[in-house]
Amino acid sequence: MTELSVSILSADLANLAAETADSMVCGADMVHFDVMDGHFVPNITYGAPVLKCLKKAVPEAFYDVHLMISDPARYAQDFAAAGANLINFHIEAVPNHVGQTIAAVRETGCLVGLTISPSTPPQAVFPYLDELDLVLVMGVEPGFGGQKFIPTTVSRVAAIKAECNRRGVSPRIEVDGGINTETASLCAQAGASVLVMGSAFFKAQDRAALAKQVRAL
Ligand code: DX5
Ligand code: ZN
Repeated sequence: MTELSVSILSADLANLAAETADSMVCGADMVHFDVMDGHFVPNITYGAPVLKCLKKAVPEAFYDVHLMISDPARYAQDFAAAGANLINFHIEAVPNHVGQTIAAVRETGCLVGLTISPSTPPQAVFPYLDELDLVLVMGVEPGFGGQKFIPTTVSRVAAIKAECNRRGVSPRIEVDGGINTETASLCAQAGASVLVMGSAFFKAQDRAALAKQVRAL
């Protein structure tokens, strides 16, 4: 059983509430909310005020917030207050303050996810595995939806899963970027328990059938 987190970055953003509600109706377990600041990544999306409106419009959703921003500790409380259930931040954004940033997110009451970009070795998250609810492994360079999955992601997920097993801990392992039915299956086999889908989900002819297929992995 795999959880599906639908990335609304690929939705019709003029109809965000309706697209989010439809994702839930079609079987999404989570709504993946991609926050980009034009500094940590070369793109800008939306922030806490948009999440707050979305939470009001679709309160039943679990909001999986993915912060691709340079100063996650500074803004974590804003996202928590706006309705985030889980906050992911990038290890590359705060290389010397990972522990403090985990604590700052934990303080907000949200679940804590630590994210690694494709060029960061999976071993970088090992020291923090006991403190995390989730590890988010990027399948593409962060910044844009619709990119091609980087195949080495699969072995990176497997390395993190093996270390979790060795340590007897079980944070969720989530993969984000380039997920379609084929790459979803590879990631699930390697130990991923949450899969993010953006463009593949919103382009699908039958979103409910796709969600069912991914959740059955
Ligand atoms: C990329 C984002 C992803 C992206 C996924 O920086 O973090 O969540 O929207 O989109 P797809 O599934 O199209 O790769
Ligand atoms: Zn994301």
